[in-house]
Amino acid sequence: MGGVFLLFASAELVLSAPGYGTDERSSLCREPAHCLRLSAYRTLSEKIPIAKLCRVCYDEIKKIGKETLCMRPVKKVTDSLTEQQYLICPAHINHYGRLFGGQLLKWIDELAGIVAIRHCGATVTTAAIDNLQFQAPAYTGDMIVLRGMVTCVGRSSMEIRVDTYRESLEGKREMINRAYIDMVCIDCKGQPKEVPELIIETEEQRQEQEAAKKRKRMRNQRRLEGF
Ligand SMILES: CC(C)(COP(=O)(O)OP(=O)(O)OC[C@H]1O[C@@H](n2cnc3c(N)ncnc32)[C@H](O)[C@@H]1OP(=O)(O)O)[C@@H](O)C(=O)NCCC(=O)NCCS
Repeated sequence: MGGVFLLFASAELVLSAPGYGTDERSSLCREPAHCLRLSAYRTLSEKIPIAKLCRVCYDEIKKIGKETLCMRPVKKVTDSLTEQQYLICPAHINHYGRLFGGQLLKWIDELAGIVAIRHCGATVTTAAIDNLQFQAPAYTGDMIVLRGMVTCVGRSSMEIRVDTYRESLEGKREMINRAYIDMVCIDCKGQPKEVPELIIETEEQRQEQEAAKKRKRMRNQRRLEGF
């Protein structure tokens, strides 16, 4: 296998010489392009021995029949997962002593933007805020924790889930809000731009992705019907 390498140049793979992948299907290869995705994620600027690809993934490259394969970059959910804390001050409180819903919404939108920017590495805009449910109040002196993660990506859009907790002095968290925000990656002209694919690693992430696809279908339907 000596001398047989895949060269990675940003999101482009170059097969520099003929070779063979291992006959063993790696435990990582749950889908045909899995090795490719994983390799691209780990080693954007390194040389990877092709022997590290399984036969299935190697054959995928050969099937394309080109020496150069352009592929969409990939990111894991954990690459953009973000937490942010706030201490509730009098300025955040409404006339009956509770945290302003609008203040929380601002923090949620900001955090979702940071998660989305970390995922796509470019400018984003908020397309929609969905499913905002205030489950419990927060008061002056409370510590608020916002935790945001990507649940699903389309071509240019990313759905971000932001959970908000009130954290006690002992560190116990009580959820007070869950929101889903659609962020769209845009270029310098404000036009939608492709985002990296999302690598799903856990059963919980898979279920969240399935639910997100369902929400997207429902949102598209609402947009079509204009309500
Ligand atoms: C979001 C925006 C860039 C989409 O542009 P567009 O020309 O409608 O683009 P498209 O119809 O091709 O949709 C692009 C993507 O955005 C998604 N999208 C568009 N409108 C959406 C909406 N209202 N809700 C959820 N997703 C939406 C589409 O589903 C699509 O996703 P995909 O590429 O992953 O399949 C554009 O509508 C916009 O700039 N809106 C204003 C956003 C803004 O100013 N936000 C700040 C808050 S005031």
